[in-house]
Amino acid sequence: MTHDPVILPLDLPDLDQACRMVERLGEAVSWYKIGPVLYLESGRELVAWLKKRDKRIFLDMKFHDIPNTVEHACAAAARLGLDLVTIHLSGGRPMIRAARKGVEGTASRLLGVSVLTSTDEKTLREDMGVGRSPEAHVHALVALGLEAGVHGIVCSPAETAGLRERFGKGWLIVNPGIRDASDPPDDQKRTATAREAMDRGADHLVIGRPILTAPDPVAKVASIRAGLR
Ligand code: C5P
Repeated sequence: MTHDPVILPLDLPDLDQACRMVERLGEAVSWYKIGPVLYLESGRELVAWLKKRDKRIFLDMKFHDIPNTVEHACAAAARLGLDLVTIHLSGGRPMIRAARKGVEGTASRLLGVSVLTSTDEKTLREDMGVGRSPEAHVHALVALGLEAGVHGIVCSPAETAGLRERFGKGWLIVNPGIRDASDPPDDQKRTATAREAMDRGADHLVIGRPILTAPDPVAKVASIRAGLR
């Protein structure tokens, strides 16, 4: 299967709307991200429906629990044939190792989430007791994640070049926060274009509202892909 960088998050309220969007996009999109809301609504049905259409699936549940639970959650995701699964790197080394054990020997790949973009320096310091800067904390968590066995990480395009430079290649970087100059930023703060993110070293781009709200989503995907050529 050829590498396709574009991942569409199915940030839609129900199965019916999700399936209609996937049908509308047809061959234009091969990767879909499913988050907790849609998964809790109709996850297994949606996964089976997407698999029947040969779609690749990124399950973004950001697991963070005791190692035994995370291992079995990741193993369950692997049994469903999900291609990418997320965990929180702040769960620590034993949890990350257990997650890796859960997907070991399967085609599922484990992605670590470091610091959520919604967490600012004050929250990190005052609520979480993290004294180092957000950037230093992200780098430390990524170092831990790669050492303990994740296959890649999810980060903002603003962090991609620095992480690639420091930790080299051979692991996946997935970037949300992708916008063309003509797209509204919505609630994304430091956005980059698809081209910029890929040039900085991303492997996959999670692009939601610019496609989901476009009058012609197929044409929007085509224009994003044209920018990548
Ligand atoms: O609509 P938009 O392109 O902003 O969607 C981005 C997707 O990536 C959403 O599903 C959002 O939950 C997810 N995401 C993010 N920022 C992160 C991690 C995930 O926007 N740091």
